[in-house]
Amino acid sequence: MVETIQWKDGAVVMIDQTRLPLHVEYVTCRTYQEVATAIRDMIIRGAPAIGVAAAMGVALGAMQADEGDLDGQMETICETLAKTRPTAVNLFWAIDRMKRLYQSLRGRPIAEIRERMVTEAQVVRAEDIAICRAIGDHGAELVPDHKTVLTHCNAGALATAGYGTALGVIRSAVAAGKQVDVFADETRPFLQGARLTVWELQQDGIPTTLITDNMAGHFMKTGRIGCVVVGADRIAANGDVANKVGTYSVAVLARENGVPFFVAAPISTLDLTLASGDQIPIEQRAAAEVTHVFGHRIAPEGTAVQNPAFDVTPSRYVSAIITEKGVARAPYEESLRKMVR
Ligand code: MRU
Repeated sequence: MVETIQWKDGAVVMIDQTRLPLHVEYVTCRTYQEVATAIRDMIIRGAPAIGVAAAMGVALGAMQADEGDLDGQMETICETLAKTRPTAVNLFWAIDRMKRLYQSLRGRPIAEIRERMVTEAQVVRAEDIAICRAIGDHGAELVPDHKTVLTHCNAGALATAGYGTALGVIRSAVAAGKQVDVFADETRPFLQGARLTVWELQQDGIPTTLITDNMAGHFMKTGRIGCVVVGADRIAANGDVANKVGTYSVAVLARENGVPFFVAAPISTLDLTLASGDQIPIEQRAAAEVTHVFGHRIAPEGTAVQNPAFDVTPSRYVSAIITEKGVARAPYEESLRKMVR
């Protein structure tokens, strides 16, 4: 299994997801500023992985901090990491967790604070892997046998500390003996499907077919897809799901064609402070991601571009939300609240 992110010799080591699949390279971050840059530049991406990176970033910050104004330094560290990407709530969840730990340790010797923060970040990582496995176990039962599963973006080991959410469900279904193959949307413009999902499923020997995003409807209409499983970046109290742009279109197509549409995500992706998905902030990314592919211009100079990185799928299209605590179904206001109790 690929090592997405690790704490190693006082530094954070992550696989460079901008270089995959052609180059398997690792980036070492020795400061919290380097972790912030890695998240912003999508060297590491995927909601749970961003959360783990943020926790490790805060821990690195604690290592860098001096005994001066520790409260002020922690504030700056957390603010810097919080400003990297706005949509995945796991980022803020992880920063809050580290902040709460720091607050409980205020006044303790700095060496002890550092040690506890580093340990906590490693616990966040270990828990994430265990959570993904639990999501996989709950979700495996929903995956139909002898069918094709469609997924969008990369909600795999690379998007988490390991195993994955949506791809975790597929891995667990395969481990349970189900005969499944995967159709991976390429996921323009950043190509997480083509570059990352195909690559990591190939490592596991799970049969995977790459399609462009605009082919999903065709394959659903012709009866090729047994179910859709995707991840999430933030889920509102009513079950609306923010995920990689294009997810909404897939969900509508799934409903039209009677294909179950499942969302797999940890409890840390729930944002029950938001009544609906309309309130989820959507990250806008650089125009060059759309006008260029791997540095090659594909649109004329001066092309006007929109590049929202995520969209929101209304909960009425979501057949079930699979978490580590079990499977939630509509009405989500009730079922999701029960999950967090
Ligand atoms: O922009 P990205 O690559 O960070 O977006 C990732 C996704 O949209 C994933 O589907 C989501 O974070 C879930 S990952 C388990």
